[in-house]
Amino acid sequence: MKGLILAGGAGTRLYPVTLAVSKQILPLYDKPMIYYPLSVLMLAGIREVLIISTPRDLPLFRELFGSGEWLGMRFDYRVQENPRGLADAFIIGADFIGGDSSALVLGDNVFYGRGFSRTLRSAAALVAEKGGGAIFGYYVKDPGAYGVVEFDSQGRALSIEEKPARPRSHYAVPGLYFYDSGATEIARSIRPSARGEIEITAVNNAYLERGRLSVEILGRGMAWLDTGTYDGLLEASNYIATIQKRQGMYVSCIEEIAFANGWISRDDLVALARKYKTSYGDYLAYIAENL
Ligand code: G1P
Repeated sequence: MKGLILAGGAGTRLYPVTLAVSKQILPLYDKPMIYYPLSVLMLAGIREVLIISTPRDLPLFRELFGSGEWLGMRFDYRVQENPRGLADAFIIGADFIGGDSSALVLGDNVFYGRGFSRTLRSAAALVAEKGGGAIFGYYVKDPGAYGVVEFDSQGRALSIEEKPARPRSHYAVPGLYFYDSGATEIARSIRPSARGEIEITAVNNAYLERGRLSVEILGRGMAWLDTGTYDGLLEASNYIATIQKRQGMYVSCIEEIAFANGWISRDDLVALARKYKTSYGDYLAYIAENL
């Protein structure tokens, strides 16, 4: 399975913060925002990742991750010339995906919660082995800004609507999607919505209509945080800081996950730890000694 991270967009809701720099490179407490969605792919066991961003911002991500070898991974990069919609990721990434299954995560989506790694691995295995798509539903107070999924009394997904004026449920669809190799073909067949985008919701509906979409609810105890506003950014940073300081265990530490996955050696981790004269570097050294 291949991983895609979409880190495009102008970030207009955060202006002037994002006038000159990509939103997904901004700090969430102690690390660049994109570390959080990247860690989601890594926890799903995905080792090959394509980063898609704007012509202006793509070089930043290349500088941040390079070839990915330092994480025992492979990174590739593609430009999205215009913000054509999320489903465009599967068209831009077609050659990278190369007929494999794939997982798309949005570069500003932050997830944290017990058992989430298991959830990710099951979704990846389901799609890789049985095909179809796998997405999630997350209860939010105001679902209108998201894709919204409606369930029947048996918990089966009935419909998914993008930013509905009158949401049929409180279940928003987070920016994390697992699909079989058919996603690119579906994306190519989608016509732009009223806002001029090829919507990921249309891809989900295509799988749903074929009876091939799994929608799993991420229940209480899971955090799916909003980073799209000043307050969202600050609150997400404080949330991460609170958990990390209390437990002394880091959220979305990509070096730790690479090590735990067996993708880099203990010596590699020690060498990475020495590069940062910060508490982040101290944490990597601690993990290298104690994990
Ligand atoms: C996008 C999707 C939406 C999804 C959301 C998750 O919204 O279109 O279905 O619920 O991401 O973050 P957008 O970021 O385009 O407003």
